[in-house]
Amino acid sequence: MTATIIDGKEASARLKDGIAKAVADLKAKHGLVPGLATVLIGDDPASQVYVASKQKTAHALGMNSVQHDLPGATPEAELLDLIRRLNADPKINGILVQLPPPKHIDPFKVITAIAVAKDVDGLHPESAGRLMAGGDSLVSCTPMGCVMMIKDVRPDLTGLHAVVVGRSNLVGKPVAHLLLNENCTVTIAHSRTKDLAAVCRTADILVAAVGRREMVRGDWIKPGAIVIDVGINRVPTAEGKSKLYGDVNFAEAVEVAGAITPVPGGVGLMTVACLMVNTLKATCLQNGITDVEIPTRLPPRA
Ligand code: GUN
Repeated sequence: MTATIIDGKEASARLKDGIAKAVADLKAKHGLVPGLATVLIGDDPASQVYVASKQKTAHALGMNSVQHDLPGATPEAELLDLIRRLNADPKINGILVQLPPPKHIDPFKVITAIAVAKDVDGLHPESAGRLMAGGDSLVSCTPMGCVMMIKDVRPDLTGLHAVVVGRSNLVGKPVAHLLLNENCTVTIAHSRTKDLAAVCRTADILVAAVGRREMVRGDWIKPGAIVIDVGINRVPTAEGKSKLYGDVNFAEAVEVAGAITPVPGGVGLMTVACLMVNTLKATCLQNGITDVEIPTRLPPRA
């Protein structure tokens, strides 16, 4: 059996189409344009690529977007001061500080300085708490993208066993809560889990977000399972470039799984689109707007 490839480019294009329509609707009905501020500290090449893609996508969908490029040596207090100004700026509805920051800056201080209403990354402890305890929250983008892709191939996840490999605040923990909210039975596993392969083999849905190149092998996968690979492992090549590898051995897994996301071309593209969902949602929540439809799932194929 060869798995269905879940194409992140095609899926994110559908989602972005839905967001662009909603952005146009928001402007027509209320004269409002969502505003996103992205902040990049330092010159990490991968972070530069990610932030540029966020900026470009925001503009392409009809949003306003401003980028703040700060030198790598920017003092923490200066960054926190910028965040305070963005919190108070009525034209800015969402704030994203690209992580990780340089070593002298405490990421927790940065995340908690962002106003919860503008926390389009969904990483503030209050946003994370609301995801767990209920209430309307901004949900972190990669987990949102993962669940949208899963539900696109299997709309009802009730009763399925989901195994999440990885326990980060960015992906593992929030994706586990989203899957719980979809009525899955959820196991959170990680690099220290005993007999990880055997645990993975029980998964109807396997989300790999552990950050280890091709750790999940073909014989770790239950035949027919949905496999979502969140790994972005950059490996330098002989030509001085880098090649991306997922956390799943794709060549092996594709022979066993029912559906699988590739790396690159999978989850990463959905992360950016989901950031736009959150920017739109934050704008509507901040303005008490309820008559604009915010996409909560992938629109059907045309
Ligand atoms: N770095 C890697 N992924 C992310 C993300 O989703 N948000 C932010 N802010 N930084 C990241």
